[in-house]
Amino acid sequence: MVPNAADSAKIRRMNQETWTAVDHYIADVLHLTDDALEFALRESDAAGLPAIAVSVPQGKFLNLLGQICHARRILEIGTLGGYSTIWMARALAPGGDMITLEIDAKHAQVARANLDRAGLGDRVEVREGAALDLLPKIAAEKKGPFDLIFIDADKPNIPDYFKWSLALSRPGTVIVVDNVVREGAVIDAASEDTSVKGVRKLNEMLAAESRVSATVLQTVGTKGYDGFTVVRVTE
Ligand code: SAH
Ligand code: DHB
Ligand code: MG
Repeated sequence: MVPNAADSAKIRRMNQETWTAVDHYIADVLHLTDDALEFALRESDAAGLPAIAVSVPQGKFLNLLGQICHARRILEIGTLGGYSTIWMARALAPGGDMITLEIDAKHAQVARANLDRAGLGDRVEVREGAALDLLPKIAAEKKGPFDLIFIDADKPNIPDYFKWSLALSRPGTVIVVDNVVREGAVIDAASEDTSVKGVRKLNEMLAAESRVSATVLQTVGTKGYDGFTVVRVTE
C-alpha cells in the first residue's frame, strides 16, 4: 500500500523524532560531547551560522577515523564554525596539524574562536577563500599528502574537490564526503538539482577510478536522512 501525502509526512515526522531521540541517547550514553564542542555550536548559533554541522555521533565517527588512520595531516573543505574541525583535530597524532578551508569570512572568524577555545588554535589553520582557489596553493606548498580529508562544502563542486583530494593523497589516505544521499534524491538520474548532480558525478568517478576503494553509508539522525561516502586511496 502506498501512503498518501499526509501519511508520508506523518511517517517522516515520526521517523525524524525517533532519529533525533536516538542521536541524543547515543551522545548521552557514550558521553560523546563536552564543553568545547557545545561552546562551538552555541557560538555558531549566536553568530547566525546555519545549523548544518555534523551531528554528535557523526563528529565522533570522524574523530575515530582520524585515530584509526593515525592522522598527522588532516584537510577539511568547508569549515563552518569549526565543529567537525574540532572533532577531527582532536584525533591528530602528536606533532600533527590540520588545514580547513572556508569561503565565508564570518564563518572562518567564528571557527578560529571556537578552535582557540578548544585549545586547538595552534594546530589548525583556517584558510579563507574559495576552496578551488586554495587547493592549488596547498598543493604548490607541498602541504600534502594528507592522511584524512573531509569534503563538506558546496556540493556541486564535489567532483573537483575529489580530484584535488586524490592529488593531495597517498596510498592509505581516507577521504570522507558528507551529504551524499540527500533524502534519497541521489537515485534520481533525471534530477536537475546541482547538488544531486555533484554527488552522482562523484559516484561515477569512484566507479571508474582504479586507485580507490569506496562505499556509501546511509545515515539517519538529527540531520535527517543523508549519508557519507568513505574512500580509501589504494595506490
Ligand atoms: N564541516 C562543517 C560544516 C560545513 S557547512 C561541520 O560539519 O561542522 C559548509 C561550509 O562550506 C559553509 O561554511 C560554507 O560557507 C562553506 N563553503 C561553501 N562553498 C565554499 C567554497 N567554494 N569554498 C570553501 N568553503 C565553502
Ligand atoms: C547543508 C550543508 C551541509 O554540509 C550539511 O551537512 C547539511 C546541509 C546545506 O547547505 O544546506
Ligand atoms: Mg555537511
